[in-house]
Amino acid sequence: MPAEDSYEDLESGYEGVGEFYDLFADNSDIPFFLEYARKTGAPVLDLAAGTGRVSYALAAEGFDVVALEQSPSMLSAAKMKHQSAPEDIAKRVELVEGNMKDFSLERKFPLILVPNSFGHLLTRNAQLSMLRCVKDHLRDDGIFILDLYPGEHQYERASFEDSPVVLPDGRKVTRSGNITSDFDRKIMRVELRFAVEDSKGTVIDEINVVSGAALIFNQEADLLIQESSFQIVDEFGDFEKNSFTLDSGRRIFILKK
Ligand SMILES: C[S@@+](CC[C@H](N)C(=O)[O-])C[C@H]1O[C@@H](n2cnc3c(N)ncnc32)[C@H](O)[C@@H]1O
Repeated sequence: MPAEDSYEDLESGYEGVGEFYDLFADNSDIPFFLEYARKTGAPVLDLAAGTGRVSYALAAEGFDVVALEQSPSMLSAAKMKHQSAPEDIAKRVELVEGNMKDFSLERKFPLILVPNSFGHLLTRNAQLSMLRCVKDHLRDDGIFILDLYPGEHQYERASFEDSPVVLPDGRKVTRSGNITSDFDRKIMRVELRFAVEDSKGTVIDEINVVSGAALIFNQEADLLIQESSFQIVDEFGDFEKNSFTLDSGRRIFILKK
Protein backbone atom coordinates (compact mmCIF):
# COMPACT_ATOMS: atom_id res chain seq x y z
CA MET A 1 0.00 0.00 0.00
CA PRO A 2 1.49 3.45 -0.85
CA ALA A 3 2.26 5.79 2.03
CA GLU A 4 -0.68 7.92 3.16
CA ASP A 5 0.65 11.10 1.59
CA SER A 6 0.86 9.42 -1.82
CA TYR A 7 -2.91 9.82 -2.03
CA GLU A 8 -2.70 13.57 -1.47
CA ASP A 9 -2.86 16.07 -4.29
CA LEU A 10 -4.34 13.60 -6.75
CA GLU A 11 -6.81 15.88 -8.45
CA SER A 12 -4.94 16.67 -11.64
CA GLY A 13 -3.45 13.93 -13.77
CA TYR A 14 -4.08 14.72 -17.39
CA GLU A 15 -1.29 17.15 -18.27
CA GLY A 16 0.43 15.98 -21.44
CA VAL A 17 -2.16 13.27 -22.01
CA GLY A 18 -4.54 15.15 -24.35
CA GLU A 19 -2.88 14.10 -27.61
CA PHE A 20 -3.07 10.40 -26.70
CA TYR A 21 -6.26 10.08 -24.61
CA ASP A 22 -8.68 9.11 -27.40
CA LEU A 23 -6.36 6.37 -28.69
CA PHE A 24 -7.22 4.22 -25.68
CA ALA A 25 -10.78 5.34 -25.05
CA ASP A 26 -13.71 2.95 -24.99
CA ASN A 27 -16.44 4.55 -27.10
CA SER A 28 -19.18 2.09 -26.20
CA ASP A 29 -20.97 4.84 -24.22
CA ILE A 30 -21.57 7.07 -27.25
CA PRO A 31 -24.68 5.35 -28.70
CA PHE A 32 -26.23 5.52 -25.22
CA PHE A 33 -25.64 9.27 -24.89
CA LEU A 34 -26.88 9.82 -28.45
CA GLU A 35 -30.09 7.97 -27.68
CA TYR A 36 -30.78 10.32 -24.75
CA ALA A 37 -29.84 13.41 -26.76
CA ARG A 38 -32.43 12.33 -29.36
CA LYS A 39 -35.03 12.13 -26.58
CA THR A 40 -34.21 15.39 -24.78
CA GLY A 41 -32.88 17.59 -27.57
CA ALA A 42 -30.04 20.08 -27.30
CA PRO A 43 -28.03 21.87 -26.07
CA VAL A 44 -26.18 19.17 -24.17
CA LEU A 45 -23.80 20.04 -21.33
CA ASP A 46 -20.80 17.66 -21.32
CA LEU A 47 -18.99 18.04 -17.98
CA ALA A 48 -15.32 17.06 -17.64
CA ALA A 49 -15.47 16.72 -21.40
CA GLY A 50 -11.78 15.90 -21.82
CA THR A 51 -10.79 15.96 -25.48
CA GLY A 52 -14.44 16.33 -26.48
CA ARG A 53 -14.67 12.62 -27.32
CA VAL A 54 -18.41 12.57 -26.53
CA SER A 55 -19.12 16.22 -27.43
CA TYR A 56 -17.93 15.93 -31.05
CA ALA A 57 -19.76 12.61 -31.51
CA LEU A 58 -22.97 14.37 -30.42
CA ALA A 59 -22.21 17.39 -32.61
CA ALA A 60 -21.65 15.09 -35.60
CA GLU A 61 -25.26 13.96 -35.16
CA GLY A 62 -26.53 17.55 -35.12
CA PHE A 63 -26.60 18.40 -31.39
CA ASP A 64 -25.27 21.64 -29.94
CA VAL A 65 -22.94 20.94 -27.02
CA VAL A 66 -21.21 22.96 -24.32
CA ALA A 67 -18.06 21.06 -23.29
CA LEU A 68 -16.63 22.08 -19.91
CA GLU A 69 -13.15 20.86 -18.97
CA GLN A 70 -10.43 21.97 -16.57
CA SER A 71 -7.23 20.41 -17.91
CA PRO A 72 -5.28 22.62 -20.34
CA SER A 73 -3.83 19.53 -22.06
CA MET A 74 -7.23 17.91 -22.63
CA LEU A 75 -8.70 21.25 -23.71
CA SER A 76 -5.93 21.80 -26.20
CA ALA A 77 -6.63 18.36 -27.72
CA ALA A 78 -10.30 19.40 -27.92
CA LYS A 79 -9.26 22.62 -29.69
CA MET A 80 -7.24 20.60 -32.22
CA LYS A 81 -10.34 18.49 -32.85
CA HIS A 82 -12.31 21.70 -33.25
CA GLN A 83 -9.91 22.98 -35.91
CA SER A 84 -9.91 19.76 -37.89
CA ALA A 85 -13.68 19.08 -37.68
CA PRO A 86 -15.94 20.08 -40.58
CA GLU A 87 -17.22 23.60 -39.95
CA ASP A 88 -20.86 22.55 -39.41
CA ILE A 89 -19.76 20.15 -36.63
CA ALA A 90 -17.18 22.44 -35.02
CA LYS A 91 -19.63 25.33 -34.78
CA ARG A 92 -21.98 23.20 -32.64
CA VAL A 93 -19.38 22.70 -29.86
CA GLU A 94 -18.56 25.45 -27.40
CA LEU A 95 -15.43 24.66 -25.36
CA VAL A 96 -15.38 26.17 -21.87
CA GLU A 97 -12.54 26.03 -19.38
CA GLY A 98 -13.98 25.36 -15.94
CA ASN A 99 -14.29 23.20 -12.87
CA MET A 100 -17.33 20.93 -12.75
CA LYS A 101 -17.69 21.36 -9.01
CA ASP A 102 -18.17 25.11 -9.29
CA PHE A 103 -19.37 26.59 -12.56
CA SER A 104 -21.94 29.09 -13.72
CA LEU A 105 -22.94 29.18 -17.37
CA GLU A 106 -26.13 31.18 -16.89
CA ARG A 107 -28.19 28.86 -19.05
CA LYS A 108 -30.13 25.65 -18.60
CA PHE A 109 -29.81 22.36 -20.46
CA PRO A 110 -32.22 19.53 -21.27
CA LEU A 111 -29.37 16.98 -20.97
CA ILE A 112 -26.25 16.98 -18.79
CA LEU A 113 -23.54 14.29 -18.91
CA VAL A 114 -20.35 13.62 -16.98
CA PRO A 115 -18.87 10.67 -18.90
CA ASN A 116 -16.33 8.61 -16.94
CA SER A 117 -15.42 11.50 -14.69
CA PHE A 118 -17.54 11.94 -11.54
CA GLY A 119 -15.04 9.89 -9.47
CA HIS A 120 -12.41 12.57 -10.01
CA LEU A 121 -14.30 14.58 -7.41
CA LEU A 122 -12.50 13.11 -4.45
CA THR A 123 -14.49 14.42 -1.52
CA ARG A 124 -18.15 14.25 -0.62
CA ASN A 125 -18.25 18.07 -0.47
CA ALA A 126 -16.88 18.33 -4.00
CA GLN A 127 -19.37 15.71 -5.23
CA LEU A 128 -22.33 17.46 -3.60
CA SER A 129 -21.17 20.83 -4.90
CA MET A 130 -21.02 19.43 -8.46
CA LEU A 131 -24.51 17.90 -8.08
CA ARG A 132 -25.84 21.31 -6.92
CA CYS A 133 -24.28 22.99 -9.99
CA VAL A 134 -25.85 20.34 -12.23
CA LYS A 135 -29.27 21.00 -10.69
CA ASP A 136 -28.88 24.74 -11.24
CA HIS A 137 -28.11 24.13 -14.92
CA LEU A 138 -30.72 21.45 -15.60
CA ARG A 139 -34.04 22.38 -17.18
CA ASP A 140 -37.09 21.42 -15.09
CA ASP A 141 -37.84 18.56 -17.51
CA GLY A 142 -34.15 17.81 -18.11
CA ILE A 143 -32.15 14.59 -17.67
CA PHE A 144 -28.80 14.17 -15.93
CA ILE A 145 -26.84 10.98 -16.70
CA LEU A 146 -24.46 10.02 -13.91
CA ASP A 147 -22.21 7.06 -14.74
CA LEU A 148 -20.18 5.50 -11.94
CA TYR A 149 -17.84 2.57 -11.38
CA PRO A 150 -19.07 0.91 -8.16
CA GLY A 151 -16.27 0.93 -5.55
CA GLU A 152 -17.15 -2.68 -4.68
CA HIS A 153 -15.65 -3.92 -7.94
CA GLN A 154 -12.39 -2.00 -8.02
CA TYR A 155 -9.08 -3.84 -7.62
CA GLU A 156 -6.93 -3.25 -4.57
CA ARG A 157 -3.90 -3.44 -6.85
CA ALA A 158 -3.68 -3.94 -10.60
CA SER A 159 -1.22 -3.32 -13.43
CA PHE A 160 -2.01 -3.27 -17.11
CA GLU A 161 -0.51 -2.53 -20.52
CA ASP A 162 -2.73 -1.77 -23.50
CA SER A 163 -1.95 -2.87 -27.04
CA PRO A 164 0.23 -0.22 -28.70
CA VAL A 165 -1.35 2.15 -31.21
CA VAL A 166 0.53 3.37 -34.30
CA LEU A 167 -0.18 6.98 -35.28
CA PRO A 168 -0.43 8.09 -38.94
CA ASP A 169 3.03 9.73 -38.61
CA GLY A 170 4.58 6.36 -37.62
CA ARG A 171 4.96 7.02 -33.89
CA LYS A 172 3.89 4.12 -31.68
CA VAL A 173 2.16 4.87 -28.36
CA THR A 174 1.88 2.37 -25.51
CA ARG A 175 -0.19 3.03 -22.42
CA SER A 176 0.46 1.16 -19.20
CA GLY A 177 -0.63 1.76 -15.66
CA ASN A 178 -0.84 0.83 -12.02
CA ILE A 179 -3.93 1.11 -9.89
CA THR A 180 -3.88 1.05 -6.10
CA SER A 181 -7.04 1.36 -4.04
CA ASP A 182 -7.19 2.41 -0.43
CA PHE A 183 -10.53 0.97 0.67
CA ASP A 184 -10.35 2.66 4.09
CA ARG A 185 -9.93 6.11 2.64
CA LYS A 186 -12.15 5.24 -0.34
CA ILE A 187 -9.74 6.55 -2.90
CA MET A 188 -7.99 5.02 -5.85
CA ARG A 189 -4.60 6.14 -7.15
CA VAL A 190 -4.14 5.69 -10.89
CA GLU A 191 -0.64 5.98 -12.37
CA LEU A 192 -0.50 6.07 -16.16
CA ARG A 193 2.52 5.98 -18.44
CA PHE A 194 2.37 6.83 -22.14
CA ALA A 195 5.54 5.76 -23.96
CA VAL A 196 6.01 7.17 -27.45
CA GLU A 197 8.43 5.45 -29.84
CA ASP A 198 9.58 6.59 -33.25
CA SER A 199 9.33 4.26 -36.26
CA LYS A 200 12.73 2.75 -35.32
CA GLY A 201 11.51 1.76 -31.85
CA THR A 202 13.42 4.44 -29.93
CA VAL A 203 11.47 5.94 -27.03
CA ILE A 204 11.22 9.65 -27.87
CA ASP A 205 8.76 10.75 -25.20
CA GLU A 206 7.38 9.45 -21.96
CA ILE A 207 4.47 10.97 -20.09
CA ASN A 208 3.76 9.92 -16.53
CA VAL A 209 0.64 11.13 -14.77
CA VAL A 210 -1.07 10.34 -11.50
CA SER A 211 -4.71 10.94 -10.76
CA GLY A 212 -7.15 10.03 -8.05
CA ALA A 213 -10.65 8.66 -8.18
CA ALA A 214 -13.11 8.35 -5.32
CA LEU A 215 -14.23 4.80 -4.59
CA ILE A 216 -17.99 5.33 -4.53
CA PHE A 217 -19.77 2.32 -3.06
CA ASN A 218 -23.37 1.60 -3.97
CA GLN A 219 -24.74 2.75 -0.63
CA GLU A 220 -22.84 6.05 -0.95
CA ALA A 221 -24.13 6.57 -4.47
CA ASP A 222 -27.68 6.11 -3.15
CA LEU A 223 -27.03 8.63 -0.36
CA LEU A 224 -25.49 11.19 -2.72
CA ILE A 225 -28.55 11.05 -4.94
CA GLN A 226 -30.92 11.28 -1.99
CA GLU A 227 -29.01 14.15 -0.43
CA SER A 228 -28.94 16.11 -3.67
CA SER A 229 -32.65 15.30 -4.11
CA PHE A 230 -32.50 13.99 -7.65
CA GLN A 231 -35.20 11.52 -8.70
CA ILE A 232 -34.10 8.24 -10.30
CA VAL A 233 -35.87 7.75 -13.63
CA ASP A 234 -33.89 4.65 -14.62
CA GLU A 235 -30.77 2.76 -13.65
CA PHE A 236 -28.55 0.52 -15.78
CA GLY A 237 -25.57 -1.75 -15.19
CA ASP A 238 -23.93 -1.01 -18.54
CA PHE A 239 -24.32 1.10 -21.68
CA GLU A 240 -26.27 -1.74 -23.37
CA LYS A 241 -29.05 -0.87 -20.89
CA ASN A 242 -28.96 -4.12 -18.94
CA SER A 243 -30.48 -3.70 -15.49
CA PHE A 244 -28.15 -2.74 -12.68
CA THR A 245 -27.37 -5.59 -10.26
CA LEU A 246 -24.84 -5.81 -7.43
CA ASP A 247 -22.56 -7.65 -9.91
CA SER A 248 -22.62 -4.82 -12.47
CA GLY A 249 -19.27 -3.21 -13.25
CA ARG A 250 -20.97 0.13 -13.99
CA ARG A 251 -23.83 2.01 -12.40
CA ILE A 252 -25.56 4.43 -14.72
CA PHE A 253 -28.27 6.65 -13.27
CA ILE A 254 -30.81 8.53 -15.37
CA LEU A 255 -31.83 11.37 -13.07
CA LYS A 256 -34.26 14.26 -13.08
CA LYS A 257 -34.94 17.12 -10.65
C1 LIG B 1 -11.44 9.94 -17.66
S1 LIG B 1 -11.36 11.52 -18.41
C2 LIG B 1 -12.90 11.55 -19.27
C3 LIG B 1 -12.97 12.60 -20.34
C4 LIG B 1 -14.28 12.59 -21.14
N1 LIG B 1 -15.41 12.82 -20.28
C5 LIG B 1 -14.44 11.28 -21.85
O1 LIG B 1 -15.26 10.46 -21.41
O2 LIG B 1 -13.76 11.08 -22.85
C6 LIG B 1 -11.67 12.57 -17.03
C7 LIG B 1 -11.67 14.04 -17.35
O3 LIG B 1 -12.18 14.77 -16.23
C8 LIG B 1 -11.49 16.01 -16.16
N2 LIG B 1 -11.71 16.56 -14.82
C9 LIG B 1 -11.33 16.02 -13.65
N3 LIG B 1 -11.76 16.79 -12.63
C10 LIG B 1 -12.42 17.84 -13.19
C11 LIG B 1 -13.10 18.97 -12.66
N4 LIG B 1 -13.17 19.17 -11.33
N5 LIG B 1 -13.68 19.84 -13.51
C12 LIG B 1 -13.60 19.65 -14.85
N6 LIG B 1 -12.96 18.61 -15.43
C13 LIG B 1 -12.38 17.70 -14.60
C14 LIG B 1 -10.07 15.59 -16.45
O4 LIG B 1 -9.25 16.70 -16.75
C15 LIG B 1 -10.30 14.64 -17.63
O5 LIG B 1 -10.33 15.34 -18.84
